[in-house]
Amino acid sequence: MENDGFQKIRIAPSILSADFSVLAEEMASVEPFVDWLHIDVMDGHFVPNLTIGPPVVKAIRPHSKAFFDAHLMMTNPEEYFSAFASAGADSVTFHVETGDTGNRIAAAREKGLKVGLALNPDTAYDAVRPYLASVDLLLVMSVFPGFGGQSFIADVLDKIRAARLDIDRQGLKVFLQVDGGINAETAALAAAAGARIFVAGSAVFSAPNRAAAIEAIYSSAQKAGMPELF
Ligand code: DX5
Ligand code: ZN
Repeated sequence: MENDGFQKIRIAPSILSADFSVLAEEMASVEPFVDWLHIDVMDGHFVPNLTIGPPVVKAIRPHSKAFFDAHLMMTNPEEYFSAFASAGADSVTFHVETGDTGNRIAAAREKGLKVGLALNPDTAYDAVRPYLASVDLLLVMSVFPGFGGQSFIADVLDKIRAARLDIDRQGLKVFLQVDGGINAETAALAAAAGARIFVAGSAVFSAPNRAAAIEAIYSSAQKAGMPELF
């Protein structure tokens, strides 16, 4: 298998699990080991929680060179594409459950953003399949969004397998991401199913040694997802 940018294993720490009172320091603690950061945006409507918005993204942007991957758990994400783009987000990933997907993909591209599409654990893969060729990233949620620190739902592995098959068969340049309950053990399962971008919040930021935590997830995903390299 060609190890191009879309097949490369990446860990994207979710800053939701970081200490918000010292966010820049928390980001600095992972910056040398990753090239993506996952920013969980919750609107108190699509999910029962409130987190980060464009002003925080703008404040942290000068503190990191990483790709800012904004996960918009919002009912009306398109109302904020412009604000996230100006704040320095590199991509926006919104949920297929909120509808109007085709128009939203176009609207995000218009703002110069990379586009991701997410689906919840109880949403069928068929809901996102028609958009696979139009997005840069597919996010298969492995917990119900709203909170960090939940347990990985293994039922979603079938959807990751199905997406991996479609992406490879059609030769699509699409990042396949998994988010929720990722640690060294569950990353191996998701990697074997075909995921390549691993969002990890509590497994990284609750660990005293972030480098070791990231390395453990990375090497476990590498071995399970790309056995041909070993
Ligand atoms: C869930 C968020 C996830 C979460 C991951 O609503 O979208 O990104 O922060 O946290 P862990 O890795 O702790 O499950
Ligand atoms: Zn997320």
